[in-house]
Amino acid sequence: MILNEDQQAMLDGAYGEGAAYAMKIQYALGEAFDAPRMVPITRAHVALSNQAGDLWFAEKMLKAGAKCRIAPTVNPGFCLGYFTGSCAHPVTEEDADHMRRTDAAYRGLGAVLSYNCTPYIASNVPNFGEICAFSESSATPYINSVWGARSNRESANSALCAAITGYVPEYGLLLDANRKGNILVHVEANMKSDYEYHLLGMMGDKIGEGIPVFTGLPAHISSEALRNLGAQLNTSGAYGMYHIVGFTPEAPTVEVAFGGKKPQREVVITDKDLKDFEEKYSDKAHDGNKVDFAMFGCPHFTLKEAMYIAKHIEGKKLVIPMYILVSSDAVEMARRMGVYDVLTAAGAELIPDSCPDQPCWHYLKGKVGITESPKCAYYPRRRGINFMIRDLDTCIEAALTGEVN
Ligand code: F3S
Repeated sequence: MILNEDQQAMLDGAYGEGAAYAMKIQYALGEAFDAPRMVPITRAHVALSNQAGDLWFAEKMLKAGAKCRIAPTVNPGFCLGYFTGSCAHPVTEEDADHMRRTDAAYRGLGAVLSYNCTPYIASNVPNFGEICAFSESSATPYINSVWGARSNRESANSALCAAITGYVPEYGLLLDANRKGNILVHVEANMKSDYEYHLLGMMGDKIGEGIPVFTGLPAHISSEALRNLGAQLNTSGAYGMYHIVGFTPEAPTVEVAFGGKKPQREVVITDKDLKDFEEKYSDKAHDGNKVDFAMFGCPHFTLKEAMYIAKHIEGKKLVIPMYILVSSDAVEMARRMGVYDVLTAAGAELIPDSCPDQPCWHYLKGKVGITESPKCAYYPRRRGINFMIRDLDTCIEAALTGEVN
């Protein structure tokens, strides 16, 4: 890979040890993928995880004097204010200290401390063709597919390196030739709400490896549905990009989506596929139909979704806890609008900056929750927390009655 003067100087240490280290990692990545050169980025998103490896790397870079040239937005950990404050089951001092260190490390590196995994909806939205370095399951496919921006499926660490150096090696989805579809997916299922996009995304086994081109989807698809599709495609598989014919910008027609070539595979997704998945993937409720809590926001819910829930529970009382995970922007707007008070009065908690795959949920161990997101069910299982998966309306109803009907 040939470096320009600035990149070579960085590799040689002219901008400090941290920047040199980041460039060395990216140089190795570029060599591994046969990239001919590095190109500048204008945006980055780091899928910070607040886990040991993530903190080790961020602190190592900080100690070496690294500073981001491109301030990246970051993923959620857990909200220190809530989980050491009003939460009835606070985190241990050790867990709180870990989150404080994560916060300090990313602040020191110059990140935007957004703690939100859906930056592509509001806080870090690229334009068509913009070269970015995005990690996070739903984020990379969203900016490639929906916005027509360009990013490879970066890891949290490689995205942080890109934010520090301001460059990425040019390979993969940065190149026109690699952005064409190769799997034609006929969706025959009735996509009646955002929930079905969660289930469609979980069809990775059936869809197979590559870039899916979806046909048969409705003419209008919400931002939330597209968020769900990308998140679950990268829970059931590894997809940097997809196309929706007549909807996403690089797929005005089937021919364009496939670059004039024939699909390598054709797949049909039916209502039965989605229903079978829901059954197979759901954990069992207590006594056949009882659940202990409801959790939404994996990926983070939007203000619109928080408002939808508020409308359905206004003036009522939940019989089980309901946790709604959102960005801090959404919390602020919900407070201004009175939505926060409506949710709180009914017993729901609107929590910013937090992810289900964090130690802050220790008190849910051994319990069975209900959620509309298979990804929300996937990660907490390793912490001994189980979930039924149902559409949002059924989940809201379950929170009001404690039962799933
Ligand atoms: Fe977001 Fe955490 Fe889920 S990063 S997508 S809330 S696992």
